[in-house]
Amino acid sequence: MQVRRCAMVLVEPRESVDFDFAELAAGETGVRERLQWVALAAHCDDEIPLDAAEVAVLGALSPGHWQAFEALSQRHPRAVLDALLAKGLLIAQEPADAMSRQCAQADAAVRAVHWRGLPAVMHRHTRWRDVDTEAAERLFAETSEQSFLERLGPAPPVVNARAAAERRLPLDRPSPSSLDALLERRVTCRNYVTAPLARDVFSAMLYRAFGARAVSDYAPGVQLLKKSVPSAGGLHATEAYLLVQRVEGIPPGLYHYHPVDHALELLGELDREAALALAGRFVATQAYYAAAPVQIALVARFERNFWKYRNHAKAYRAVILDAGHLSQALYLAATELDLGAFITAAINEVEIEWAFGLEPMAEGPLCVCGFGVRAQAKVTVEFDPAHQAWP
Ligand SMILES: Cc1cc2nc3c(=O)[nH]c(=O)nc-3n(C[C@H](O)[C@H](O)[C@H](O)COP(=O)(O)O)c2cc1C
Repeated sequence: MQVRRCAMVLVEPRESVDFDFAELAAGETGVRERLQWVALAAHCDDEIPLDAAEVAVLGALSPGHWQAFEALSQRHPRAVLDALLAKGLLIAQEPADAMSRQCAQADAAVRAVHWRGLPAVMHRHTRWRDVDTEAAERLFAETSEQSFLERLGPAPPVVNARAAAERRLPLDRPSPSSLDALLERRVTCRNYVTAPLARDVFSAMLYRAFGARAVSDYAPGVQLLKKSVPSAGGLHATEAYLLVQRVEGIPPGLYHYHPVDHALELLGELDREAALALAGRFVATQAYYAAAPVQIALVARFERNFWKYRNHAKAYRAVILDAGHLSQALYLAATELDLGAFITAAINEVEIEWAFGLEPMAEGPLCVCGFGVRAQAKVTVEFDPAHQAWP
């Protein structure tokens, strides 16, 4: 059997704290601190506990060259090699069972996309699955005697002033423009009407935020897009995947937006209840965002950005910035049409990947946005100190 180490793995010396209740009852603190090695691999969702012998052997195995398992077992304890194989950190060239096959495929998917090690591990291990933020808030309220703000204490100041007020150089305010008016009216919306959204408004929103205004044949085999937002390398590697609940003439379901054709690609129809339930799972149970008629997962196609920015220290940061630009374009398009919009980073990435059929290390959701007509009554709080949305 030929084997090699997985492509990317970081090993963390982690301290965890346990309580020994018997010790606690005997009047001691009962606190037991435990240090353990934990492997965080870019091809595996689970964190993998390791012992010191496994860490030592892991550090002596090549991720590049296939080597005979028998030859390796002359140099390293066989039981340790077996354990690394069973934990999915040692990859078999011809896997014999389903679990090893799955590991080998996931490792090959990481290798194919030119990730840099640190962001690859960070991306894989900061994805949520089945997180319910509302339940977490309820649990905090039930188990804590303090309010959330009491626990946090005062925030760092609103501005990190670097000079006394009298030493600041005053700047002129611009005379109010139509852009100022638009920017001032932009308020994150957490209250949506239940009526369906008009189809022409929906189409205009998608075009302005995500549509391609030109396609450029930059070089043989390399096309770039022109959009309303900047994008690292002009690659526009972030695409819009939609969960439509209520738009006139568009069946509820999952769609991919084709930015060049300005068209929707149906990935699966849903009934109304299923669409609402899935919307809730996407946004980690934030009911006010699940109630929006349209949700959009901004999905970074790492494979496209990293095609140019291979193993690059800034590439992951660049795709996150791209998502921020798209979100602001969506907000401004919504504001101009008197709609409300939102963005949230509190999302269950893994469930979004399943719904849209995404290979996590090739294409990953970074946030969920949405839009719709603002409700007449404010049930959920919005941050509108200038009274632009709620006079
Ligand atoms: C990256 C990012 C993540 C956010 N995540 C959430 C979220 O999880 N839940 C939420 O209700 N709002 C979320 N928001 C919206 C902010 O709460 C909102 O922008 C902020 O309160 C300021 O209000 P404004 O957008 O109306 O100016 C997020 C905004 C950004 C930019």
